Amino acid sequence: MNALMIKGLIFAAVLIGATVAVVSSMNIDLSDPINMITMIGAVAIAGLSVGVSIKYINQMKTDTATGELVDHNWDGIGEYKNELPSGWAFSFLGTLIWAIWYMLAGYPVNAFSQIGQYNEEVLAHQEKFEAKHKNADAATLQQMGESIFLVQCAPCHGETGDGLSGKAQDFATRESKEQILDVIANGSNQLKYPMGAMPGGMASGADAEAIADYIVGGMKGEAPASYGVCAGCHGADGAGNGGTAPNIADYDDVLVHNVLENGKKGVIGIMPSFKGRFTPVQEKALTTYLHSLEN
Ligand code: HEC
Ligand code: HEC
Repeated sequence: MNALMIKGLIFAAVLIGATVAVVSSMNIDLSDPINMITMIGAVAIAGLSVGVSIKYINQMKTDTATGELVDHNWDGIGEYKNELPSGWAFSFLGTLIWAIWYMLAGYPVNAFSQIGQYNEEVLAHQEKFEAKHKNADAATLQQMGESIFLVQCAPCHGETGDGLSGKAQDFATRESKEQILDVIANGSNQLKYPMGAMPGGMASGADAEAIADYIVGGMKGEAPASYGVCAGCHGADGAGNGGTAPNIADYDDVLVHNVLENGKKGVIGIMPSFKGRFTPVQEKALTTYLHSLEN
């Protein structure tokens, strides 16, 4: 065994010793197979590095160069005429071919983007979700709606949907008298119903009061005569004529969809738009849940 070998073995022992010391100081559980394999790998790398270094240091000491020198020399230093190593040449050629493929077919044509892939995966997941819950029963929708509501809507509407003392819609009734009087006076143009905007000033004074009381009261009993002007668009029952105007008696699928899609700025405040955030099944679930909050 020569001196170099002995130095190498000492060096390997120091490397392995240091690795073991660090690992034991970190309280790593070596009964975990992954940790054990990593540890064996670290020891193997230390051994191999020292072994390979010794081989080449020895070779440097004993090797003599052979071959034909070029004619020129630089201050006594010559250069051999070396063949281009074939491995190097093939790798260079391979890189060229790969670069051409990458420019023409790999990247710009089949542009890959992480965001695109994410969106595709979300869409695929949503399709699966929609298919799975296509015929969800009322109890499932109710539960689903409640969990969405608690996360997305409760911060404004309150955990029980009571509107947090007037900061947002109280779902116990469809709309408050204050809200209805505001719409009668000022109209509304934000929910994108097929009927378009509702003009303001269609009733005032006692007529407006009577209409508002009637709607807040759940549209029971005989309608005040002045409600006639509203019935043309909202229907005699207030249900909105098949979704062409808002249902003012009840939270229905169309209303919840339109409010989520467009947001709403009303007398209470601003409800942000949730456009694109929910699938149709999730919107249905929210409607089902809002229904359960109504008196
Ligand atoms: C010309 C048709 C039309 C008439 C008449 C009409 N409305 Fe409307 N109403 C609408 C439309 C359309 C909307 C939704 C407008 C929008 O996009 O914001 C609406 C919205 C409303 C809203 C707000 C609903 C919500 O959830 O934000 C209330 C309340 C309302 N109308 C009550 C009335 C009352 C009360 C009358 C009678 C005095 C009346 N409307 C007359 C078409 C009409
Ligand atoms: C940032 C606060 C905020 C969040 C979050 C919020 N809302 Fe609202 N929402 C409001 C306010 C404020 C109103 C009352 C707007 C008005 O008429 O003045 C409202 C009104 C409503 C209405 C009644 C609309 C109408 O035309 O009568 C519905 C339905 C509704 N929200 C559903 C939801 C649902 C479902 C969620 C959760 C996905 C939600 N909101 C999240 C603030 C919020």
